Amino acid sequence: MTAPCSDCHNSKEPPTLTDDFQRKIDYVRLAVTADCNLRCSYCMREEHEEHTSRADQLSTEEIHTIINVLAEQGITKLRLTGGEPLLQHDIVEIVRRAKQQPNIQTVNLTTNGLLLDKLLAKLIDAGLDSINVSIDTLRRDRYKTITRRDEFERAKSNFTMLLESNMVPVKLNVVVIKRINSDELEDFVALTRDYPLIVRFIELQPFDDNQIWRTGQFFGADKIQEMLTTLYPEMQILKSSATQNFTFSLPNHQGQVAIIPAYTRNFCHDCNKIRITSTGKIISCLYGKEGIELLPLLRSGASNEAIAALFRKAVALKPENGKHAASNGVRTSMSEIGG
Ligand code: 5AD
Ligand code: SF4
Repeated sequence: MTAPCSDCHNSKEPPTLTDDFQRKIDYVRLAVTADCNLRCSYCMREEHEEHTSRADQLSTEEIHTIINVLAEQGITKLRLTGGEPLLQHDIVEIVRRAKQQPNIQTVNLTTNGLLLDKLLAKLIDAGLDSINVSIDTLRRDRYKTITRRDEFERAKSNFTMLLESNMVPVKLNVVVIKRINSDELEDFVALTRDYPLIVRFIELQPFDDNQIWRTGQFFGADKIQEMLTTLYPEMQILKSSATQNFTFSLPNHQGQVAIIPAYTRNFCHDCNKIRITSTGKIISCLYGKEGIELLPLLRSGASNEAIAALFRKAVALKPENGKHAASNGVRTSMSEIGG
């Protein structure tokens, strides 16, 4: 019998986190702050409270510890969210240190883009793998209505700068809302002609703070798909991924368009993620009411092994089908749980 070569013998199996339903959990969405410089009406109330004290939010060191422990447990994909993650004063350092952790393969970010002029080059230098930008309209007056802030010019110029720089893969998130921006689909699709971005049309998800979902302005993925197939009979349908039921490109266009049935479709069967809030709660399931408090343990000087055990507990609490289980109530806001 041939002896195993020393390389193979010494190499450790990559770690894996698996839940009770054989789903491999390798993805974490981490909200690095709950603060935001916009007030999107479907996300927050105008009077959304800013966290005046940093004391109740995860510190940079705590974020770093969490990422290290998770990576050692089998997380390979990290998405930094918020609130607006670029408002976290150490965001570049968080990206850099996450990228230095050998088990973490990708670090991505979801941002409204308002601070990209200051931070893009530094984020790329730190190793950021891709960026999702949220802009729901290409018209200034509508941007102000949706976000309650007059920041369209900055959002637009930073987004154009990002596309022109061609430094990282870019996705554009567009939450489609009836009578607000549902007549702009063509303008967004037009962006894919000149740029290799992915435009993602997203269904509104119901959250308590966005009373908008009670107003009959919900615009479902089936409606979006119907509009687009009528507009573009020449579309080339592409293979879709787990969270995108429909993706297409147009002839001679560099980019792609995806439709995300965030609300109407149930993705539970191939869920691979957990979420962590900016106040240090582990959210096992988007639809669950409770989170597991991580902050007290982190601040008690607990060992990495004790923190890892809490993550394993959170993973073990993942329901098989959270959407079905969630019959009572919804969360307050996406900004609370990291999107
Ligand atoms: N429904 C759908 N998307 C939402 N987002 C925030 N709140 C909601 C909601 N209720 C989106 C943002 C951004 C991403 C972080 O989540 O627009 O694209
Ligand atoms: Fe801020 Fe994003 Fe919520 Fe808009 S959707 S208020 S940009 S966190």
